[in-house]
Amino acid sequence: MIVSSPGRINIIGEHVDYNDGFVLPFAINKRIWVEVVRSSFFEVNSEAYGTVKIKSIEKTSTWADYILGVLNEIEQRGFKVPPLKIKIWGDLPSGMGLSSSAALETATAFAVSELLSLNLDKSAVVEIAVRAERNFVGVQCGIMDQYTAVFGEKGQALLIDTMKITHELIPLNMGNYIFAVVDSGVKHSLASGEYNKRRAETQEALKILGKSSYRDVKRTDIDRIQDPVLKKRASHVIDEIERTVKAADYLKSGEMSLLGELLYKSHESLSKLYEVSCEETDFIVEFLRNNGITGARIIGGGFGGSVLILDEKERVKRVFEEMKQKYSNRFRAQLKLLFVESSSGVRKEGD
Ligand code: GLA
Repeated sequence: MIVSSPGRINIIGEHVDYNDGFVLPFAINKRIWVEVVRSSFFEVNSEAYGTVKIKSIEKTSTWADYILGVLNEIEQRGFKVPPLKIKIWGDLPSGMGLSSSAALETATAFAVSELLSLNLDKSAVVEIAVRAERNFVGVQCGIMDQYTAVFGEKGQALLIDTMKITHELIPLNMGNYIFAVVDSGVKHSLASGEYNKRRAETQEALKILGKSSYRDVKRTDIDRIQDPVLKKRASHVIDEIERTVKAADYLKSGEMSLLGELLYKSHESLSKLYEVSCEETDFIVEFLRNNGITGARIIGGGFGGSVLILDEKERVKRVFEEMKQKYSNRFRAQLKLLFVESSSGVRKEGD
């Protein structure tokens, strides 16, 4: 049984999917393939990370936990998972903020479900993958990445309401504009604890406000938070949710300059209020802005990873070449540019 699942790009709505916000991602044409076959022992093999042999479905504190976490969640649902040989390969890079972990988890969940005829529906695959990441890997993530990897559709962004766990399809109505991704070369690690810390801070701020959801918080409520750090975190959440709803309208009506402006605002907020950017990604966004690029911002969990760019392809290429030079002089590191297109969600090979 071979299944593949895509990475994702989040246009806007960053660090709000665990705060009942709206997010606007799409699945991309970079994927991870997972092959599962029955065996007499457990073994996980990845083209990039080598082989891990496993006696039973328990945490290993290695990359294999993304897979074992999924098998564990499937067992938690009352199914018995027999020994399996699992092979992984793909063209979706890790550590770039393109959500390779969610692609791996969702592909594994779907492949195992198909092989063992468990009939898990799409929502169950999302839930298993999210729980695997939270319980085995230890990142208290939201649902955006796994949801997009499963429900993504070619030519469409998903406006996901993370409170209701539903989505509206928004056509990627972009004319000559494209999305590209610049890899800063700074590997981010969400499990480092900063991600979970942000989540805890936003929850604390919500408690101070006496509300149960950020959807009930108004901009003016924020003044009631005394602690300056918590105030910044909550401000980001409120503004980012508002920006995302607006961005979906601009995408629908093809207003790329207005969309681009929102990307810059989002970056500013992620950098100054949510503090999940870094010197390198700030430099990239600043350079792009000063050189007339329509929109850019850090994407994904942050602390490194990639910057999303919105503009026409030729202009992106030209500005990137100038930036590459400046960046390597300053940070002694190489930038990589990746053009991405939308794609469909998790699927069986041959479908
Ligand atoms: C990671 C998490 C997502 C989301 C983003 C930030 O990718 O897995 O759930 O919180 O960070 O928007």
